[in-house]
Formats: sequence, structure tokens, C-alpha cells
Amino acid sequence: MKETIRKLNKLKKEKNAVILAHIYQLPEIHNIADFVGDSLDLSRKAVQTNADVIVFCGVHFMAETASIVNPKKKVLIPDSNAGCPMADMITAEKLKEFKSQYKNPVVVAYVNTSAAVKAESDICCTSSNAVNVVKSIAGDRGAENSDIIFVPDRNLGSYVQKLAGVKMNIWNGFCPTHNNLILPEYLLEAKEEHPHAEILVHPECRPEVASMADHIMSTGVMCRYVEKSTAKEFIIGTETGILYKLKKDNPSKNFYHVSSLVVCPNMKKITLAKVLDVLTNMKNAISVSEDIRQKAYRPILKMLEINA
Ligand code: 13P
Ligand code: SF4
Repeated sequence: MKETIRKLNKLKKEKNAVILAHIYQLPEIHNIADFVGDSLDLSRKAVQTNADVIVFCGVHFMAETASIVNPKKKVLIPDSNAGCPMADMITAEKLKEFKSQYKNPVVVAYVNTSAAVKAESDICCTSSNAVNVVKSIAGDRGAENSDIIFVPDRNLGSYVQKLAGVKMNIWNGFCPTHNNLILPEYLLEAKEEHPHAEILVHPECRPEVASMADHIMSTGVMCRYVEKSTAKEFIIGTETGILYKLKKDNPSKNFYHVSSLVVCPNMKKITLAKVLDVLTNMKNAISVSEDIRQKAYRPILKMLEINA
């Protein structure tokens, strides 16, 4: 491991590369990354970096977003099979058909979508800014607006609809990890075992789970909240990779999984050996056609302009 890290650091200098990693990554990736964050933090970092090469340790749509905002830079993904099943639940064709059912549709696309879907959308959002993004559109279009389309996550969509107080037409997608593996009975068990712990869950969880939580937050917001909170114990309802960061940043606090099975297999495809391999051989570069890139860039930029 030490030798791999030494090689990696040397290559990073030679190639002026930066390693960006999502919070769900394996501990070995957290430890070598230049920056670890949630999807919104990572898209902002991708815009700001002066590096020539970005090694993106996360799933495909995240690396693709980094590439859309940085057309002159090489964005490498250590495993090109690291996809997001929720992002695959909607295609540009399906979105066009959905849009055609409305007179004047405005599409809010969760960043967990392909470049082609973003290209058919008006504005992007992540789980940390979705409420503000939707409120900003509703503000622009008037309260009686009823043709906002939200894709692809039905759970995030219904949470946002409630908080923003805006009626939306929501696609029926979901995250298999959050929707299928974080169940009310597991949360109840964890609560019985740790009655004093605060419950934090991700908005990709089912509404029945979200309603049992003390707070519903994106991964990045969760990390910042825990640092400031006076609570000492937390039950965490999101992918287990976050536990490593929470414990590392808050050694005096205790964190409990809702279930140790809450794993995103795609996030876990990225390993240290693969990071070294792509940087050595400059392989697995993300490529987006210039036409789609330009169209997908607009909704991402619009999202980044919203201060949330
Ligand atoms: P965050 O925006 O909270 O990082 O979530 C991304 C994601 O894919 C959650 O499953
Ligand atoms: Fe996609 Fe779910 Fe994995 Fe997040 S946890 S990347 S939404 S499959």
C-alpha cells in the first residue's frame, strides 16, 4: 500500500493531477484524495481546480459532470463500470416523451443523470440544494405553476415537493441502495438499541424512513451538521462509506449504521490499484460529444449560480 501511495504522489506531481472522491468511497480512497465531498461540493471543486487531470473517484455521472464543466481537462474514472442504477432509470428519449405530455414543462434533473438527460433539462440539482433550486423556479414562474418535472428520484422529488411547497410531476426512479436497503424496521431496531442517538437520513430514502428521522440531509450537509451538533451519538441512514469520514472527523462521537448492508456496489468498484492504473496509463477518460456537453453544461451552470 505504501509503495502504491508513493507512486501515486509522484504521478500526481508529474501530470498535475488532482484526486476528487465522493464520501461513499472506500477508506483507502478517502486517505489519498485531495478532496472528499458530496456531489455538489465535488462539482464546485471540479470547476475551481487548476489541475490538468482529474481522477474522479465516484460513479460515472459524477465524473461526467466534472468533464462537462471542464472540457479542456482530462477526467479519468478508475472503473468505467461504476455506474448509478438510479441515473439509468431515465434516458433522454424517455424524458422527451414525458415532457411532451406538458404544455410548458420545466425540467429539474438531479445530477444523478446522464449528460444526455441533462441536455434535455432546464436546471440540475443535488440533494443539498434541490429545495432551493425548485423554489427558485417556482419563484420565476408563479405559485400556480404545475408543470415542473423532476427526474429521476421519486423519494427526493416527494421530499422536495413537500418542503418547497410546489407541485411537481415526478419520475418513478429510485436508488436501490437507499430505497431497498434502508427500511423502517431497521431504523426502529437501531433506535431501540441507541435511544439517545439522533437519526440522520438521506433524502433518497423512502418517505416512511424519512418521516422517522430527526434530520434529512445530503451527505455533505450531514458531515457539517455532525461537527457542529452537541449530540454525541448518531444513527446514519445513508451509504455506509460515510461512517469512515464521520468517525475520522469526530473521534469523540459515535455513529451507528441503520444496517451494515447499506452499500452502493458501484461506489465500491473504485480501488487504490485502479486509481494508480488509470493515472499511470491515462486511461478511462470521460468523453462527452461537444453538442451534448454544451447543452448539459447550461443546467449545471444554472444550478451552480444558485447560492445554496
Ligand atoms: P450526495 O449529493 O448527498 O453526495 O448524494 C449523492 C448520491 O449518489 C447519494 O446516493
Ligand atoms: Fe446511485 Fe444510489 Fe449509488 Fe448514490 S448510492 S450512486 S444514487 S446507486
